[in-house]
Amino acid sequence: MNRYETWFCGTRLWRWMTRRQVLPWVLKGSELGEHVLELGAGPGAATEELAHLAARVTSLEYDHAFAAKLGARVNGSNATAIQGDAATLPFADGTFSSAIAILMLHHLRSHELQDRAFAETWRVLRPGGVFLAFDIRDGWLHRVGHIRSTFVPVAPAGVFARLTNAGFSKVTVDIQRGGFRIRALRAREA
Ligand SMILES: C[S@@+](CC[C@H](N)C(=O)[O-])C[C@H]1O[C@@H](n2cnc3c(N)ncnc32)[C@H](O)[C@@H]1O
Repeated sequence: MNRYETWFCGTRLWRWMTRRQVLPWVLKGSELGEHVLELGAGPGAATEELAHLAARVTSLEYDHAFAAKLGARVNGSNATAIQGDAATLPFADGTFSSAIAILMLHHLRSHELQDRAFAETWRVLRPGGVFLAFDIRDGWLHRVGHIRSTFVPVAPAGVFARLTNAGFSKVTVDIQRGGFRIRALRAREA
C-alpha cells in the first residue's frame, strides 16, 4: 500500500465507515457463523466489529508490520491476527464458517493470484460457508489513489464466472456508488 492508503485505512473515519456503512451492507442477509476468516485485515478497521459478531475471528494480513500491530491489539481476545498470503492460505480444508475481504482483492497482484485466492477461500470454508467481499471498481480516481501501490481491479461482470470456476455457488454481485459487494456460497455436500 502507498502512504495515502496506509493513512486512510488507519483513520477513525474509515473505521466508522466500515462499521456503519460497509459491513452492514456486505453482511446484510448473511450469517457469519462461529469462525470468520478476515482476508487482508490491514490496520484492522473491521476486525473488532467482526469479533462482536462472531465467536472467533482469524485475521490474515500479508504485511508483517500490519499483522504484528493488529496482533498486539487483538490477540488474546476472540480475534487472532496472523501474517499470511490470501493466495496460499495456511489453514486446513473446511476451517471457517465464513470469509470476508474488505478492499483486499484489488491488492492481489494479478488475476491469476486473485483466482487462486478465490479457490483457496473455497477450500478453507466449511460446506455451507459464505464468502463476502467489498471492493472498488476501476476508474481514474482509484488509479491515482494507487500510484506506487497495487491496483488490479476486479471487474464485477467477471465475478460470477470466476467464483463459479473456483467452486462457489449462488454467486451474487451488487454495485453501488462507492463500490460493489460479492456474496458466494460453498455449497453443502449432497
Ligand atoms: C486497502 S487495504 C484494506 C485493509 C482493511 N481490510 C481495511 O478495510 O481497512 C488492503 C490490505 O490487503 C493486504 N494484502 C495485500 N495482498 C495480500 C495478500 N496476498 N494476502 C493477504 N493480505 C493482503 C494489504 O497488505 C493491505 O493491508
